[in-house]
Formats: sequence, structure tokens, C-alpha cells
Amino acid sequence: MYRTHNNGQLRAADINKEVTLAGWVQKTRDKGFMVWVDLRDRYGITQLIFDEVRTSKEVIEKATKLGREFVIQVKGTVIERESKNPNMPTGDVEILVSELNILNESLTPPFTIEDETDGGEDLRMKYRYLDIRRKPVRENLIFRSKVAMAVRNYLSKEGFIEVETPYLIKSTPEGARDFVVPSRMNEGQFYALPQSPQTFKQLLMVGGMDKYFQIVKCFRDEDLRADRQPEFTQIDCEMAFVEQEDILKAFEGLTKHLLKEINGVEISKFPRMTYDEAMAKYGNDKPDIRFGMEFCPLSPLTPEGGTTGFPVFDNAELVVAINVEGCAEYSRKQIDALVEWVKRPQIGATGLIWVKYNEDGSLKSSIDKFFEEKTLKEWAEKCKAKPGDLMLIMAGDTHKTRTQLSALRMHLAEELGLRKNDEFAPLWVVDFPLLEWDEETNRYHAMHHPFTSPKPGQLELLATNPGEVKANAYDLVLNGNEIGGGSIRIHDKKTQALMFDYLGFTPEEAKAQFGFLMEAFQYGAPPHGGIAFGLDRLVAILGGQETIRDFIAFPKNNSGRDVMIDAPAPIDAKQLEELHLKVEIKS
Ligand code: AMO
Repeated sequence: MYRTHNNGQLRAADINKEVTLAGWVQKTRDKGFMVWVDLRDRYGITQLIFDEVRTSKEVIEKATKLGREFVIQVKGTVIERESKNPNMPTGDVEILVSELNILNESLTPPFTIEDETDGGEDLRMKYRYLDIRRKPVRENLIFRSKVAMAVRNYLSKEGFIEVETPYLIKSTPEGARDFVVPSRMNEGQFYALPQSPQTFKQLLMVGGMDKYFQIVKCFRDEDLRADRQPEFTQIDCEMAFVEQEDILKAFEGLTKHLLKEINGVEISKFPRMTYDEAMAKYGNDKPDIRFGMEFCPLSPLTPEGGTTGFPVFDNAELVVAINVEGCAEYSRKQIDALVEWVKRPQIGATGLIWVKYNEDGSLKSSIDKFFEEKTLKEWAEKCKAKPGDLMLIMAGDTHKTRTQLSALRMHLAEELGLRKNDEFAPLWVVDFPLLEWDEETNRYHAMHHPFTSPKPGQLELLATNPGEVKANAYDLVLNGNEIGGGSIRIHDKKTQALMFDYLGFTPEEAKAQFGFLMEAFQYGAPPHGGIAFGLDRLVAILGGQETIRDFIAFPKNNSGRDVMIDAPAPIDAKQLEELHLKVEIKS
């Protein structure tokens, strides 16, 4: 038996017990006559003590040779510590060691394996297995496992069946590029790794599975951000004989359950908002509704056709403000910093206008030359601003302005500490547009995916006003992050063919790519719909963070590389030949 207890287990009640422990040496302190060792494993740290009087010379000698991260096994007696450490669960006791067994030596690790490390991101990723020994990383992975388990238990109890779907499939267009895998047995042909199991889960509904889920890896060759990885995990779900309301109810249930079980938070409000409303109120289809600062449109500023004399407003499609409570005292420097912030290329605004509603009731703005105090007061009333508040205004093209002001709103909320990570505000965003115009290809694309059905009665609109058609699609937003998205699907061949046609597929292309689905729809496909949660995002947010990399055991870096195993990498000539490939690097 390697150990009788783990390193997080022993307490004062265990004093005098003979125990065997195993783990890694986190730290040693050698005072000559006495050696202390912090022994670590997944469960915690236990202090070991070797002393001249009570430990044999041979064992003490061995102890002085221990280095950081050596793997050891010790036998000894649990004793009361002379100086107790109230910050450690095992801080009342230590082990007086009688036997020491070195199970494996270790090189000196390239960074300190403690809660606060001196290792930079790159180094920690290269030696991720050492990083995982650190408590914050380990705790995140344990947290992830807990969330995944809670999801499995909940969905199983609700009658969902977990079914695995293949990874070597054919390309499904969902907005990102595919990762492809060449086939050795089929010369010149490629599999694609799934961007999601979308078509398979629909086929499972045709197969009568009724309620499906899968915690599944998905692969998308897209540019990376804090909330995106090229391979990530979905909680993928589908149900038959359902309408949108059934899906929303079912997954409100899951979300509430997780918040209760994982975070101990009871959610009473689960609001819904249309896409149009979200864009108008927050300039964003995934608004963080934990704080106000809702958009307050000021335009039209004059009766139609009139001008204000201020060219920025007169030439703008939209003039819109946010009211930042209690910030009228912002200094010139603070305001300048905000102006610079919105002018950064990532945001791309040309400027920012401010109106201060001073505590004494007077109003002052950056455009006093153009507008009298009376007008500023009218704006303040529109925005429900009070003395002491600061209004920030942006103007220009509707979509761009909303996006820029939305970014500023989030930036300010971050600065003002309004995004509290122990507060949770879920939200459904519904009625997304079915199609979105793509400037690059000069045609409409499915905003969600081509299997999403239009809202009832809107199919006809497709022919005349495609941009206006709303989809039977919904996103689940948590604290300003899209953690899930889904839709009610098209389930008849005729509508699906029509949809492909609107999306610019020729009947031949539609057949070549999705013939299997259209065929299946002819054999009694039930009405169905579903949703997929991004597990990595969900776990990060429940864990009070937004960087998903911290909750993935072996993540990729921003260039999509695994720096630990050094992938991607070239393959050898023989492999290429077997795959019937010839590589020619163009650049
Ligand atoms: P969608 O593309 O919206 O829908 O994806 C569902 C959820 O997956 C998460 N997600 C990601 N997480 C990390 N890295 C990424 N690169 C990444 N891309 C997406 C998001 C997102 O909300 N088949 C449909 C679902 C359906 O219609 O049922 C789908 O994949 O949290």
C-alpha cells in the first residue's frame, strides 16, 4: 500500500496514528538538526518533520538530499505541531518521519510550483503537467469535472440519453473553417472534424432517440480569443416533438440547477429579450444585464430634416448615450483616457462626447459651443440622469456606433467594478435574424446554421425581404457571455431545400453536402430542436472567470499551437506518401 491517507486528510484527531503518505516535495527547510518538508498531492499539503533526536541518522541524511518535486513515500507518526498554521486544513499536525523512501527524483522545475508562481504563461504551457500540480490550475480542473458531472446527472435524470457521434465526418458549414484529415484508404479525399455534431443529432431525432445529449469535442479553425479555442467542448442537446418554449424551459432548468448546485445561487429571474431589443438597449447580442447603463438614443435631435449645427450629430444615423452614474466628478485626465480608449483601432471610434450633470444641477459638456444647457438638460431627462452623473455620447452609423458604445459600456463596467464574478444574470436572447449579409461573398449566410427554421409564418418573407426574416433561434447569455445557442430545426425536405436555395446552394451542391439529411427528412422526421452550451465558457463563468484556457487541461496558445507537444508539426515523407499527399509550401 503506497499510502494510508492523502495529504489533505490528517487532523488533530489523528494524533498518534501511524501513517504512510506519498506525494511531491513542495519545499524543504533544513536547519541542520531538523528538516521540514511540505509534502503535496492533489488533496493538499502535510508537513513532515525529521529531527536529530527522534529520527534515525540515515533517514535524516536522506531527507537533507531531497529536492523540489522529488516523489517520496514516508512512514511516521502524526504529532501535534508546535507552531500551528491556521491557514492550512492540516495545519494542526505534522508527521514525525521514521522511514523515507524516494520513489523518484526530479529535475529542478523551471518555475515554482506554488499558488503564486514565477513562471510566465509560455513556460507554464510548455510544462503544463507541472502547472497542473499548482493548486489554482488543479482546482479549475476539478471544478470543471464537477460541472460536467452535474450536467450529466441532471440531463440523465431528465431522460436524456448520451450518444456519441463520429469525429471523422464531412464538412458542415457553421461559419468557421474545418480542420480536415486526409484519408489513406480513399485517395484525394478528406474527412472534416466536426464543428459540432449538428446533423448527427438531428439524425438521432429521425432515429427516434427523442432526448439526446453529449459532452463532446468540437473543432473550429478560427482566430482565437480568450473565450475561443480551436478544440472546445459542447454540452450538445436535441429534443423531438418540441417547440421553442419547451427548449427554453428545459435548459432554464439545467442552468438554474447548475447555479444552485455549483455556486449555491438561486435564480429567480430568467428574462428573455429579442435580438432587436438587445441591440438597441445594449448594442450587443450578448448583453451583461447585471448592471444598467442602458443605451439612451438621443436622435432624432431635431424635427426631420432639421440640423443642430453640430456636424458630428447632423451627419449621424444614430446619436446614442449611456449614463454613467456618479461619475460627473471624472477629471479631465480620466475623460481623456476614455476618449483615447474608444479611439484605439480595436474600437475604431472617431471620438466621444461627454455631458457632466454636476451635483449643483448645472450641466457642462464637451460640445457647449453647439448646445445650450437647456438642451443638455433635455438629454439628461431622456437618459434619466441625476446630478452627479456623467453622460457619454457617440454618433455615427447605427451598427458601428452601437458596437463601439457597447464596448465602452463593458469597459466602464469593468473599471467601476460592476461586473461582480459572484453575481449571475442569465438571459435568453430570442428572435435572431435568420440570415445575415456577408460583404465578402456578397450574399446571405445563415446567422446560426442552415438547419434553423424561420419563425412560424415567416417563410414567405424569404423571397421578398430575406434580411427581415426572424429565426426560431435563441442564445443563452450569462454575464455578458454567449454560453449556448440553438434553434428549432427545419424538419421537412421541401423547406430545407428552399433554405439551401436561398443560401445560394445549387440543388447539386445541396445534395452533395446534405443529401443524407434531406433523404432522412423523407422518412418521417419529427419536429425537433435543440441547443449546445459551450462547456468551457460555462465552467469559466461559473468559476468567476472569462478565460477558458484556464479551465482546459491542455489548451492551445493564441497561434493554435500546443507548445508542450509542439503541434502542429510536419509529418514524414512516408506518411505523406501513404496519404497520397505532396506538400508544397507557398510562402
Ligand atoms: P454554436 O456555434 O452557437 O451552436 O455553438 C454553441 C456554443 O459553443 C460555444 N463555442 C465555443 N467555445 C469555445 N471555443 C469556441 N471556438 C467556440 N465556438 C462556440 C459557445 C456557443 O454558444 N450546433 C449548434 C448548436 C445548436 O443549434 O443546437 C452550435 O454549434 O458557447
